[in-house]
Amino acid sequence: KRPPASVIFIFGGSGDLNYRKLTPALYNLFLDNWMPDKFAIAGIGRSPYSDEAFHEHLLDGVTKFSRRKGKQNGHWTEFSQHVSYLQMDGDDASAYHKITDLVKQKEDEFGVHPNVIFYLAVAPQLVPSIATKLGALKLCAEKGTTRIVVEKPFGHDLESAHDLNMLLSSMFAEEQIFRIDHYLGKETVQNILALRFANALFEPLWNRNYIDHIQITAAESVGLEGRGGYFEHAGALRDMVQNHILQILCMIAMEPPVSFDANEIRNKKVDVLNAIRRISKDQVRDYAVRGQYSGGWKKGEKVVGYREEEGVDPQSNIDTFAAVKFYIDNWRWQGVPIYVRTGKYLNQKATHITLQFKPAPHYAFPSESAESWRSNLLTISIQPSMDISISFQAKRPGQTMELDPVKMTFDYDEVAGDHAPEAYETLLLDVMEGNATLFMRNDQVDAAWKVITPILETWESRPPQNFPNYAPDSWGPDAADALLARDGHTWINLP
Ligand code: BG6
Repeated sequence: KRPPASVIFIFGGSGDLNYRKLTPALYNLFLDNWMPDKFAIAGIGRSPYSDEAFHEHLLDGVTKFSRRKGKQNGHWTEFSQHVSYLQMDGDDASAYHKITDLVKQKEDEFGVHPNVIFYLAVAPQLVPSIATKLGALKLCAEKGTTRIVVEKPFGHDLESAHDLNMLLSSMFAEEQIFRIDHYLGKETVQNILALRFANALFEPLWNRNYIDHIQITAAESVGLEGRGGYFEHAGALRDMVQNHILQILCMIAMEPPVSFDANEIRNKKVDVLNAIRRISKDQVRDYAVRGQYSGGWKKGEKVVGYREEEGVDPQSNIDTFAAVKFYIDNWRWQGVPIYVRTGKYLNQKATHITLQFKPAPHYAFPSESAESWRSNLLTISIQPSMDISISFQAKRPGQTMELDPVKMTFDYDEVAGDHAPEAYETLLLDVMEGNATLFMRNDQVDAAWKVITPILETWESRPPQNFPNYAPDSWGPDAADALLARDGHTWINLP
């Protein structure tokens, strides 16, 4: 069933997010017959564009970045008839009547009052000002139909996130606010819930009795990609751990939900965040590692170090790599370390989760070495490969009882082909349908900031002594390996 008639306003219409992600996602929804029968999209920005020039710019993005790439652009003209450009300055309150006028015009055209969606694809510092001006529109009091979508980063720290939440909730009801974390829209991330809660096979093992430790890797092979100005105020811990990685951790660690109701799922996730052990500032060095890349060679190409990047302070202490050990203090996870890491310019682009099972209680096989239990793993690959695999010991064919590690894999790519929607497709459809299950509630955002605040504050008050401390194409600083080695483990990299 298609969502109801909708008018979508994209602030930052001429910006990168719309070009690379939002319009390609909306166009794919259109091609897959998921867009409402009646809809309009208006890109808002300060730069002058005619509708035609705007369409051309967007088509270029679709051709380069849509999962269908050049395929099926034949319907572009049909789609683009729904898209217009609204030149206005988001800071100018007197321009906002253009929004109300367009909604009125579409309402007359559609013959129904449409959903009105405001997507704020703008720099974080512009969000409060735009949200305040939107809040003043009568339209925004319509709880059932008007929604606002806010991109990450949601605040800069606990206090600013709290202020932003206060501001938004003074103008919009919680059910109108959609805080996006695009990782939650990824097919393979959603599949974690199916794996865990649609099967009786895994759940009995999913706890401290059988799991030795968990690793979550979100490695990127790209560097800054021209985002120096943003990254200098963020760093890897803020950019990836506070949101994407903690959300994945919640999906892995949460208790079974009673239903798929948005608040039920979010309650279960917030319980995990609240149970993560708070570390004191003195413990930070034992639990967290930061890194920054140097110049060097990246797949045969010479690249500059972070401090030489455009828009970056030559003495910058910003982290481009972060690794943290978490504990969750509840019945299920007591004593099970969860190691997470992320970084720019690492050896591979690879996001995956590995559950390492505990050793069997007794070794009965003569050839089994003390280390063979380490092959007992469940690995969930989020991207670029999308699969779930179980590794275990099996008998090597032959006359002797010797064992080898083997693997059983479910390849999500194979079943999905190129039909798998991209994260932004799923999330934009959810916004049109008013389903907030995959979006962050205000208390989740707060709880996630609380988890990383001691690390952030300690790192900010104690400058690193050894930056830059890892080379492009590596797996990050040596200290990240030492973090696991102290517990007798090593990071698991996929081939
Ligand atoms: C964004 C971060 O949220 O996620 C980027 O700001 C990062 O720095 C990106 O590169 C990674 O997303 P994906 O979907 O490519 O893993």
